[in-house]
Amino acid sequence: MKSVFACQSCGAQAPKWLGRCPECDAWNSFVEEMVEKPGKTVERKGAAEPLGGGRALRYADVDAVVSTRFSSGISEFDRVLGGGIVPGSLVLLGGEPGIGKSTLLLQAAAAFASDVGPVLYASGEESEHQVKMRGERLGVGDAPLFLLAETCIERILEEVDRVRPALLIVDSIQTVFSLKMASAPGSVGQVRQAATDLLFTAKGRNLPTIVVGHVTKDGALAGPKVLEHVVDTVLYFEGDRHHAHRVVRAVKNRFGAISELGVFEMTGEGLRAVANPSALFLAERPENVPGSSVLCCVEGSRPILVEVQALVGTATFGNARRTASGVDPNRLSLLLAVLDKRAGLNLVSDDVYVNVAGGMAVDEPAADLAILAAVASSLRNRPLLPHTVVFGEVGLAGEVRATSHAALRLREAAQLGFSRCIVPDGNVATGDVPKDMDVVGVRNVGEALDVLM
Ligand code: TYD
Ligand code: MG
Repeated sequence: MKSVFACQSCGAQAPKWLGRCPECDAWNSFVEEMVEKPGKTVERKGAAEPLGGGRALRYADVDAVVSTRFSSGISEFDRVLGGGIVPGSLVLLGGEPGIGKSTLLLQAAAAFASDVGPVLYASGEESEHQVKMRGERLGVGDAPLFLLAETCIERILEEVDRVRPALLIVDSIQTVFSLKMASAPGSVGQVRQAATDLLFTAKGRNLPTIVVGHVTKDGALAGPKVLEHVVDTVLYFEGDRHHAHRVVRAVKNRFGAISELGVFEMTGEGLRAVANPSALFLAERPENVPGSSVLCCVEGSRPILVEVQALVGTATFGNARRTASGVDPNRLSLLLAVLDKRAGLNLVSDDVYVNVAGGMAVDEPAADLAILAAVASSLRNRPLLPHTVVFGEVGLAGEVRATSHAALRLREAAQLGFSRCIVPDGNVATGDVPKDMDVVGVRNVGEALDVLM
């Protein structure tokens, strides 16, 4: 086997890296790849025995394996994984540096090791001592947890042979390299090769594997989008480093629902699972202040109450600023245009700042009405009615459209002591209204602002 550099857009090959493809003129498209000599059968170490000798099976003859899942020992992590770690699955945990990936995985590794079986934690970023120091803070006890400071994928797989772990953790995929390739660790070729090796090991040995991937500033998993296709599950660690709480979100999951959410709080003793995030996000909410509304959003299957804040002020120099954090800036512009055109609130010469308190990001259309409510409240300098929750999608004609999971949202709001809910008219007939809850349906933005203030 040898490696060549191949253009990713036309397939042209060259013995060394080229900045521009001579065939198709694409820039920066060359990636190192392994090539097999023609005619030779590809032998893949650790690959699963083909089922039924490589022949097609009748659908009815295939066992529906009710795969048992192992708990990672951390309830919120199990939740994003769709109920626990599936044997033989390859999971990618992405996130910005310093957000807490290594912390979470070390905690999970320790719990897994004491409940299920040995865990091999291969770290290419920290020495065994550094990992141990962190472990002391986290209170990692005397569990069969093996640490390996190694970046060569072949060596890591040798240790897998020796230790025979029940769970493998590789931190991070960008530091790992294969001896078969000449390019530097972290390059697309290396990352792809390492991920493929790990995939065959995971499937062949039924060994659940979690790999860490770093995320670049613009939010993509650094370099290798390729990874997302290879792995079974992609989790993103989000949140901002200045807030104590963190959110782990599933963006792809072959074994469970996506957009499932796990909420954690970073403490002096590592990450703590937060079972009731609504209470956390509303904890410091000011009461009776203009520009604040409470939204009930749904993440995956979980309703979460968050506070949406808005501040409207006179723009200086006639150039109005619109700043959004936690909501899509384009969506905000659209909503401001609707407010202007359909509700007659003139915001052309005003600065508008919108923020979802606590660093949470909301990308559901159901947030529209809450954003509008907060903006209108700040503009008129009047607080919204107390104990009121809002949700609903707003269309360009100023109409308020029904959203999904209305009953779920109402129940969560009632549980946290809210007594009034402004919802789209189309959702009023859900029938499943909690006791003591006053549900008000609105058909358009004007009606909504009337009942809110
Ligand atoms: P880390 O897991 O090293 O991040 P990543 O692997 O994603 O780069 O997280 C490091 C941050 O977490 C660091 O800023 C310190 C903080 N931290 C705590 O606040 N408490 C703790 O118990 C630990 C272990 C880390
Ligand atoms: Mg780390």
